[in-house]
Amino acid sequence: MLLSTLPLSVILLLLSNVAATPTPRQPNGFSMPLRRRAQRRSTDFGTWAKNQRAGLTAKYGGAPVARRSSGTNLITNQGADSSYFGSLALGTPAASFDVILDTGSADLWVAGSNCDQGCQSVPTFDASRSSSFVNKSTEFQITYGSGAAEGTLGSDTVQMAGFSVSNQIFAVCDAVSDGLLTNPVSGLLGLAWQSIASSGATPLWQTLAASSWDSPVMAFQLTRFLNQSKAQDEEFGGSFTMGFVNQSLYTGDIEYIDMPTSTDSYWILSISAITVQGNSVSIDTSGTDSYAAIDTGTTLVGGPPDDIANIYAQIPNSQAGTGNYEGYYLYPCDTDVTVTLSFGGTAWAVSPADFELQEVSRGTCVGSFFTLTTGDSAPSWIVGDTFLKNVYSVFRYSPASVGFAALSDTALAMNGNIDLAAPSATIGSVSAEATANNNRAGGNTSAARRSMLPSAAFAVTVSAILVSVLKMMV
Ligand SMILES: *[C@@H]1O[C@H](CO)[C@@H](O)[C@H](O)[C@H]1NC(C)=O
Ligand SMILES: *[C@@H]1O[C@H](CO)[C@@H](O)[C@H](O)[C@H]1NC(C)=O
Ligand SMILES: *[C@@H]1O[C@H](CO)[C@@H](O)[C@H](O)[C@H]1NC(C)=O
Ligand SMILES: *[C@@H]1O[C@H](CO)[C@@H](O)[C@H](O)[C@H]1NC(C)=O
Repeated sequence: MLLSTLPLSVILLLLSNVAATPTPRQPNGFSMPLRRRAQRRSTDFGTWAKNQRAGLTAKYGGAPVARRSSGTNLITNQGADSSYFGSLALGTPAASFDVILDTGSADLWVAGSNCDQGCQSVPTFDASRSSSFVNKSTEFQITYGSGAAEGTLGSDTVQMAGFSVSNQIFAVCDAVSDGLLTNPVSGLLGLAWQSIASSGATPLWQTLAASSWDSPVMAFQLTRFLNQSKAQDEEFGGSFTMGFVNQSLYTGDIEYIDMPTSTDSYWILSISAITVQGNSVSIDTSGTDSYAAIDTGTTLVGGPPDDIANIYAQIPNSQAGTGNYEGYYLYPCDTDVTVTLSFGGTAWAVSPADFELQEVSRGTCVGSFFTLTTGDSAPSWIVGDTFLKNVYSVFRYSPASVGFAALSDTALAMNGNIDLAAPSATIGSVSAEATANNNRAGGNTSAARRSMLPSAAFAVTVSAILVSVLKMMV
């Protein structure tokens, strides 16, 4: 509408309204509702537990995983993980997909329409239908706690939670571990730092943090649905925001703790104290042994065997598990166990309901904290959803830090609320656009994932410098 076509009085009215009501600017982006998938508590829970531990060991630098290229099929994920997922859109015209949101890895990948293993019954991305897709013809492989995926890299436009990034590099996968993808989930969005990206590509979030966010943060509220007899296969999972925190979901201040590492890799914090039933637990807080990856893509909590043993030593009549439960501990279900973790001054409590993983025989339960031996350069602790369901968690780009805050009553009321429908895919409109800087396209697959802490290899130092340069440009 041209101003000159309006009467002067209307123009003045418009102008005075603008001056009189300085409405706070809406942040770029919107709060994206998440879905979560219930953990499958089948009779074969022992196998699930065993796979959780073996898989997490593989994700964090432990045992190698069979590759299809070596003549075998990819490992099968026999125990479905609980997972939190949201929506993004790929290509031109935009096609929407659900992806697991994983702060413990840094690559984006989706099942491609050529996928011939592990993608049955999930929506797949057909690159030939996107006018903006560019095939990079570079092989891609990655291993997670719950399986592995392989394919080729390409770039295209990606939209998510109100943002759009063009030229984003991601993998279009043609083989995925059976059980890793279950309809409607078609892939995974890694939300950790570029230096651990198997693709070498700048992660979506890092491009946006450097260019488009009002505030350099992304935040999660993750719901808990335990013991709900009416729980659905999919549940309301909470929410994810990029570029702002949602103040209605937490109370008090966000306690931000700077990452203790000089290179950015996983989202790492140093654990400063642990209590069980109010008693302080002796743990190794020296240097890297106290490093914990804060990982939304991991269900439970894994830690060094001695520290985990000291935690269970505070629980009367607990004992180390055997067989499928090796690395886990059993304890009497009628004990309400409250564990707290501190990273800075605040002791954040894990609810007894989250600590209790499963009753495995009459009156005997298995706990959610288990022993884990990670690779030399990976963090010793992996802190997953067992903990993260109990806090509002904020991942801050600059200064690189993770923050936790107490959940608000509004957020707590969503836990176990079966009246909240699992949200449908949410793409929404774009409020800010960016273009990926693909300076590390086709980077080093094997080296990048295994070198992450201060002892890191040269390749990581180079990417850390790139990250620092990006940060200086903010
Ligand atoms: C914050 O969360 C509340 C509760 O889920 C929601 O109603 C509101 O729309 C969110 N705010 C923003 C700015 O997204
Ligand atoms: C990209 O090109 C390679 C051949 O270099 C091909 O194998 C692959 O299927 C292509 N990817 C897509 C998504 O079209
Ligand atoms: C789960 O539900 C059962 C039956 O209603 C109840 O006895 C038990 O205490 C509940 N467990 C938890 C952890 O809430
Ligand atoms: C990847 O890293 C490994 C180990 O550092 C090295 O041997 C290999 O040459 C690198 N490959 C590329 C393509 O840079």
